[in-house]
Amino acid sequence: MGKKFYVTTPIYYPSGKFHIGTAYTTVLADTIKKYKQQRGYDAYMLTGLDEHGQKVQDVAISNGKTPQEHVDEIANQAKKLWELMDIEYDDFIRTTEPRHCSVVEKIFERFIKQGDIYKGEYEGWYCKPCETYFTQTQLIDGKCPDCGRPVEKMKEEAYFFNMKKYEKRLIEFYNENPDFIQPSHRKTEIFNNFIKPGLEDLCVTRTSFDWGIKVKSDPKHVIYVWVDALTNYINALGYMSKDDYLMKKYWPADLQIVGKDIIRFHAIYWPIFLMALDLPLPKKIYAHGFIMMKDGKMSKSKGNVVYPEMLVEKYGLDATRYYLLRECNFGQDALFTPEEFVDRYNYDLCNDLGNLLNRTIGMINKYFKGKIPEYNGIVNDVDEELEKYIRKQISVVEEQMDNYDLSKALEEIWKIISRTNKYIDQTEPWILFKEESTEKLKSVMIHLVESLRIIGILIRSAMKNTSNEIFTQLGIENINKEWDSIYEFGKLFNNSEFKVIEKPTPVFNRLDSKEEIEYIKNNMK
Ligand code: MSP
Repeated sequence: MGKKFYVTTPIYYPSGKFHIGTAYTTVLADTIKKYKQQRGYDAYMLTGLDEHGQKVQDVAISNGKTPQEHVDEIANQAKKLWELMDIEYDDFIRTTEPRHCSVVEKIFERFIKQGDIYKGEYEGWYCKPCETYFTQTQLIDGKCPDCGRPVEKMKEEAYFFNMKKYEKRLIEFYNENPDFIQPSHRKTEIFNNFIKPGLEDLCVTRTSFDWGIKVKSDPKHVIYVWVDALTNYINALGYMSKDDYLMKKYWPADLQIVGKDIIRFHAIYWPIFLMALDLPLPKKIYAHGFIMMKDGKMSKSKGNVVYPEMLVEKYGLDATRYYLLRECNFGQDALFTPEEFVDRYNYDLCNDLGNLLNRTIGMINKYFKGKIPEYNGIVNDVDEELEKYIRKQISVVEEQMDNYDLSKALEEIWKIISRTNKYIDQTEPWILFKEESTEKLKSVMIHLVESLRIIGILIRSAMKNTSNEIFTQLGIENINKEWDSIYEFGKLFNNSEFKVIEKPTPVFNRLDSKEEIEYIKNNMK
């Protein structure tokens, strides 16, 4: 059996339509999965929905629907969006599915039996109209953060998970696995804010609402959020069920991608739940930043939400995926601006990549009637320099991809594109043509094609359509596209019979900046 790779996204709350923030997490996971496949891994990706809880129940009611009707609708919408965005997930788990609920029930009972979960009293600030508890810090001016009405101190019977019991083991685990939390500054935050002051036990049930999984041995309690939500990652693999071959094959997860707001739950509670279940811990939790707008967070009330469908429908899938992956730096927040989106489109995609492909095809048509010349090694002075540069860049890109720093990886791929464009200026093929330096001219053409082929493979996991377009327009769609084929420059063109297409179509058409910036602004909601 080959090497395996299991990657997960958070399961999203079905509170409404997904914005580009949610799309980013999912595109990131999808790209990493596809890259791992390119590198010969048997890769498996899980995504899904976190369908229980008070908020979901409230949204459903305010839309005049039952919670189940509501979540069914959002699940369909989500699947449609992921199809539009070419997300190749292997499983889509919904926490209302019996395969999930039945296992959560069992896990909870096991925790009670082991003494990990005990019954106590939950005390907090309760907002009656919202039927929700808040902690002191969540209150705004001492009032409910959702509706602004007064809150009162209330107590209710609830179950708690004994986190303290596992604290020492968790610290040992962090020490033995220094790369578990990425990027590393998040680890420092977790340590300083939660571990140092001492872990608090976690309240894991509620009695104030009923849209959730009931505690089997005490059904007036509903399992509240994290035991339900986090265990999706193993339940989807068939944990505790007869069909658990996926669990055996893929667990522990190699990479769990989460937003910075939920790193705490994944870096503290999740490992502790797994310890309590005697299961191995995931290899890495990667926390990405937020996509922000100039005026702060995206929110419907501000009318500044960018929906991925709008970008994909207007500018294409690859431009959208490219923007998200390129603009969100490893673990940091990113700022979405229509200006930047249009600039990236015009400069990176249209000028740099699009023109390189177009010019190359144009020249091969003009100078060699479309036939791609054979590779004859180093002919021009600068051939070697280009080859060396590309070889070096391939290992840099691999390193960045292996670190899951896709923004950097794309930046490094774009350096190859710029370098290849520069190679055209250096070799001046139009002069070689005039001078009838045919061998030199041939070498330039095959170097351009080969560079584009390598670029086509490097961008494949992020931008499959563009990658395919490069291969098709160069007339090499049937050529070997395996990752390993990029290490030996020119090898596939020893006695080539390949012909580029006669009339290349631009992969990206230049955008009118002013018009498109307006368009995006007008379509934020
Ligand atoms: N249901 C929980 C996760 C449970 S995982 C066992 C949840 N759902 S959520 O829908 O509120 O958020 C899902 C993910 O989207 C989180 O990782 C969150 O960080 C991410 N994002 C929400 N807004 C975002 C941006 N503006 N930008 C990037 N990601 C953002 O939390």
